[in-house]
Amino acid sequence: MRTALALLLLTTPAFAQEAADAVAPEAATGLAPEVAAPVTSTDWMVTAANPLAAEAGAQVLRDGGSAADAMVAVQAVLGLVEPQSSGLGGGAFLVWYDAATGETTTLDGRETAPMAATPTLFQTENGEPMGFFDAVVGGLSVGTPGTPMLMEEAHRRWGRASWSGLFDDAIELADDGFAVSLRLAELVTGDAERLAVAPATAAYFLPNGSPLQKGETLRNPAYAATLRALAAEGTDAFYSGEVAEGIVATVRDAAQPGVLTMDDLAAYDVVERPAVCAPYHGTQVCGMGPPSSGALTVGQILAMLEYHDIAAMGPDDPEVWRLIGDASRLAFADRGRYMADSDFVPMPKLLDGAYLRDRAMLLSGDDALPEVSAGSPPWDHAALDFADDVSLELPSTSHISIVDGDGNALSMTTTIENGFGSRLMTPGGFLLNNELTDFSFRTHSDGVPIANRVEPGKRPRSSMSPTIVLRDGAPVMVVGSPGGSRIIGYVAKTIVAHLDWGMDIQQAVALPHLVNRFGTYDLEEGTAAEGLGEALTAMGFETNVRGLTSGLHVISIDGDTLSGGADPRREGVAIGE
Ligand code: GLY
Repeated sequence: MRTALALLLLTTPAFAQEAADAVAPEAATGLAPEVAAPVTSTDWMVTAANPLAAEAGAQVLRDGGSAADAMVAVQAVLGLVEPQSSGLGGGAFLVWYDAATGETTTLDGRETAPMAATPTLFQTENGEPMGFFDAVVGGLSVGTPGTPMLMEEAHRRWGRASWSGLFDDAIELADDGFAVSLRLAELVTGDAERLAVAPATAAYFLPNGSPLQKGETLRNPAYAATLRALAAEGTDAFYSGEVAEGIVATVRDAAQPGVLTMDDLAAYDVVERPAVCAPYHGTQVCGMGPPSSGALTVGQILAMLEYHDIAAMGPDDPEVWRLIGDASRLAFADRGRYMADSDFVPMPKLLDGAYLRDRAMLLSGDDALPEVSAGSPPWDHAALDFADDVSLELPSTSHISIVDGDGNALSMTTTIENGFGSRLMTPGGFLLNNELTDFSFRTHSDGVPIANRVEPGKRPRSSMSPTIVLRDGAPVMVVGSPGGSRIIGYVAKTIVAHLDWGMDIQQAVALPHLVNRFGTYDLEEGTAAEGLGEALTAMGFETNVRGLTSGLHVISIDGDTLSGGADPRREGVAIGE
């Protein structure tokens, strides 16, 4: 038995640099980075974005808890130590592989538009879309949170530990305090102006008017009290009563008030949905269907790549990135037109094999596609006459991957949307999401409706792509990432790196990013990805060098060996025994 932490070796942001300094990386020759071996284990594994959160989950697994039990403990701590990314005030999607039945299913804990929300929620008096941050900051962007009920539902179905005990670590950390991490301190400093708008948010993140500092001890007794109530009474203590009243008052009393009510909270429900699976090189890549665009878009990209021998080409060949980049652009064109909450918008068959073969044939040239548009997928019952939408989604969010001692696997991406969400701190000690800004701000384009427009009771389209890859019915990869709509590219690329290029899971996670969604090829700053820019430009792509802060937390499974990878671009770790 062994316990180890994944080492952080890629050298982009300052917070990653600290850990990287401990083990100097060798110079990489091509795109594939030289990194420490992944954490390996034989019994269980948890990987998440913060060491305190991962350790809370590890202790649950050590004590014989299931992956669902461990997730509850991880999420409860993440909401405290990484409050900018996820928490009780947000939403999440979960993919579950059940070792006893061999079934894979998903839970949709997405935030939901209040019943008083209208399609013009994010429009000015003149009918023009509001500025993005004008819409984000305040109550207007807050959807009914889903994460608490998702935690409870996962535990009800698949838990075996006592629910009330799963909050102990988070309660203790909230009462006694934890050391503010460099990443949190940097993000608070960078967002200080917006965090100052609501007094309760300012009081927590900007005590005495100054941003929290790295290493400072931060306590959150209000959050501890909320967790105690959740632990004792379940989510009734969240969706009704004092905590719910605090949420509604925070939304409605904000400088820019929103329309959330106690009835919206009382009506919230988690939805079980079938996993959406796409075949890829003998595996089934299974993830979250609508309202997430994740599994459909990742599945389309991989299906198109199957027609090209990218395994033989390898990661240093610009041709590989032409194929991945344009497959991604084609998939994003379909995403923009057709994908939205399928409870409101009947969708065509976006993973149809013959349709995707035709789309893949569009990639048979040598140069970047000059233009890309949505295709004409087959349909039985669908609404097709939609205008294209490119809603802005900025990176925040967090990803948790867990395999437990029985072989159950859990992949969960969890979010409050933008970093620090709506910037509204509730009396219950957690931030509220701004998930409603994942809807299109426009309702129509040239008179044609947009599928992802705001409607009461609808769930905004997501890019979150929690994924479990199965071979012969058993999981071989548990993967997911934060990163706004770039999540889709991060996840697809990590699957390719591990399955096609044979990279171990830590190397696949650390592989520099090249991401194309809408035409411009984003190349990860300070990495070997920059070196491919010239070749991609010669093919006709626009390129843009920038930071690409994914947060991939991945487990690979090979026989009895579990290998954990944690993204060196953030503060996460993998722990296994
Ligand atoms: N808000 C990020 C996502 O749902 O994709």
